Amino acid sequence: MPLAVELQGVAFGYRPGQRVLEGVDLRLGEGEFVAVAGPNGGGKTTLMRIVLGLERPGEGTALLFGEPAHRFSARRALGYLAQRAVVGGDAPATVREVVSAGRLATGRLVGRLRQEDRRQVSDAIERVGLDLVADAPLKTLSGGMQQRAFIAKALAGRPSLLVLDEPTTGVDAESQESLAQLLADLHGELGVTIVYVSHEFGAVEHHVQRLVLVRRTIVFDGSPHDLPGVWHDPGHVHARE
Ligand SMILES: Nc1ncnc2c1ncn2[C@@H]1O[C@H](COP(=O)(O)OP(=O)(O)OP(=O)(O)O)[C@@H](O)[C@H]1O
Ligand SMILES: [Mg+2]
Repeated sequence: MPLAVELQGVAFGYRPGQRVLEGVDLRLGEGEFVAVAGPNGGGKTTLMRIVLGLERPGEGTALLFGEPAHRFSARRALGYLAQRAVVGGDAPATVREVVSAGRLATGRLVGRLRQEDRRQVSDAIERVGLDLVADAPLKTLSGGMQQRAFIAKALAGRPSLLVLDEPTTGVDAESQESLAQLLADLHGELGVTIVYVSHEFGAVEHHVQRLVLVRRTIVFDGSPHDLPGVWHDPGHVHARE
């Protein structure tokens, strides 16, 4: 299976002597749908930033579709929903405007979308089920709907890899479930590689074939069914060590 992500012996610290991650080996095949979980401060976001080439490992190697991640050329192939992307905010941007930003390669101006871009934007909005509110200001929507808009923004670039970092923060349980279902559908229909990061993985557990637990290093990597019962309690994950 061709690999989307290949990390080997990765260690990383934000300052000399610090080790936020160490000994990380991770291979994600193209088209996998994987959940990444672990305690607060366990290194999930840092790991995703390394995967996406936004940070360079202090030790080891990080490849994205076979290229060194930090030099990966086809940035548009990467959809990244950063942690706490939803700001609520006062910006009057509509759903369609936010999603359109996902089509803009660097240097292209807002409002200069070509027909193909507009089609992809409408398609992405429809896929996440926001067609009826496409021209409503984002800030008038619920947290769950705003998350869908940001997912559509990432999808509009037709990514090969979609990374969502804590997409359900501040979203109720029901919306978490429907977001998980949406991702499962997108995975099934588009075959996009999806990495879903959350310190709680209950909502996606039934949809993913693979769960990776991160606490400075990878402490579990396998089917959620094989997860030792004791790891299901986030408090336990936190308290160990
Ligand atoms: N920009 C930064 N500068 C310095 N230290 C950082 C920075 N970002 C994260 N850290 C530290 O690195 C460690 C891992 O943080 P990271 O954000 O990757 O964890 P996380 O698993 O994503 O946590 P959370 O569940 O809270 O999102 C933590 O100890 C954190 O304090
Ligand atoms: Mg994080």
